[in-house]
Amino acid sequence: MTSYTSRWTIADALKVHADDPTTTMPVIAQNFPTMDESVMIWDTGALRNIHGQTVTFKGWHVIWSLAVDKIDLNNDDIYDEWHSRNDRAYIGYWYSRTGNGADWQWGGRLLNTSADLRPHEWSGGLVMREGTGNVVDMFYTSEADSPINQSVPSVSTGQIFADANGVWFGGFKTTTEMFSADGIHNANSQQDEYFDFRDPHPFVNPADGRVYCLYESNVAGMRGEFTIGSEEQGVLPPGFAVDAGAQYGAASIGIAVLDDGAYKSGDFSTARWTQLDPLVTALGVNDQMERPHIVFRDNLTYLFTISHHSTYSGGLSGPDGVYGFVSENGLFGPYKPLNSSGLVLGNPSSAPYETYSHFVDPDGYVQAFIDTLPAPGEDPNNPENFRIGATLSPTVKIELDGDRTFLSEVHGYGQVYAQAAWPVGNAWDHRPATV
Ligand code: FRU
Repeated sequence: MTSYTSRWTIADALKVHADDPTTTMPVIAQNFPTMDESVMIWDTGALRNIHGQTVTFKGWHVIWSLAVDKIDLNNDDIYDEWHSRNDRAYIGYWYSRTGNGADWQWGGRLLNTSADLRPHEWSGGLVMREGTGNVVDMFYTSEADSPINQSVPSVSTGQIFADANGVWFGGFKTTTEMFSADGIHNANSQQDEYFDFRDPHPFVNPADGRVYCLYESNVAGMRGEFTIGSEEQGVLPPGFAVDAGAQYGAASIGIAVLDDGAYKSGDFSTARWTQLDPLVTALGVNDQMERPHIVFRDNLTYLFTISHHSTYSGGLSGPDGVYGFVSENGLFGPYKPLNSSGLVLGNPSSAPYETYSHFVDPDGYVQAFIDTLPAPGEDPNNPENFRIGATLSPTVKIELDGDRTFLSEVHGYGQVYAQAAWPVGNAWDHRPATV
């Protein structure tokens, strides 16, 4: 492990508490609206530029979502379908003139099926290609669960079109794999049959102008054979005994760097990514840090990631939600957990699975999807009695105040705000040429 990898320690995670009003999602109303009755959606992201800004295209707001068509597979109830959604996930898109939740029009599938190297399309990001009029790259996870678990961050390239009536896409006919779990910087399937390796998030690092990619990963090494040392523990209270099961939490936030100039050349089929040591590990704490993403603000680097109650290890606990870390020293840290604990926004204990897959934009707007909402008066932890969401939750805003965050505003369902317009007056025109 090289010197820069930061740790989310057991001591940090002991400070995680649900229901602090500054770090808790609002309880969602039972009568939340559904964006489209024909489709169930979950992880969602806005069309953006490589600098992280949400962009409109010709005045249209565009978002992508993981999706399954709403059909009752077993002709019984819809719950099975929602809970097995990963097995049929594809990426679709929505467009809207306003970015208001009520206005999203479902555009259907984004990638051509000929682009599918594996059966499932999981999360990533939809990025306008800098210096082009309408080239767009869909970074995503190409996934299969048999004969063994395979999960490869990948990219497919297309074009976006729009007129007064709507938005559509061309291209997206082939896929290029970016890099694979190597067992050195991150766990591969031989080391950990449950390894996570997904959710590519490319961006330009303003400090050196290079393109990097974050991704969800696990710490390299054999599952079940990790030692939780003093660096993973942090400063523990007297008498605190680390549970033997703590080592089953082995999440990491991976990072790769793109060959210099490759992004400008625009040919991802030959571009080479080099994996580096992870930015943050959660060894001893939690087994999943998903959808990592980054915000550069006020000379600070904020790293956000989503995680689950169920993936904490060693008796630790925390809500499903978005967690984060901050560095005063640029991309490679050192990072410390936001709010001391790492928790940025968790679900309330009265609705512990109401939202997930939070994504923080550069202005602090946080978008997520509704998972399941307990029926009124029911035990919130009893999964038998709930309303399935499969649609976007209210957008909230957080203030980023140094190493602390505060929930500050609640907006409409599926509200998206853009920071820049494409192609006229777009932000990169005013930025130094970096790549
Ligand atoms: C987060 C996540 C992602 C993955 C997708 C699969 O909700 O687990 O890490 O790409 O969902 O549905």
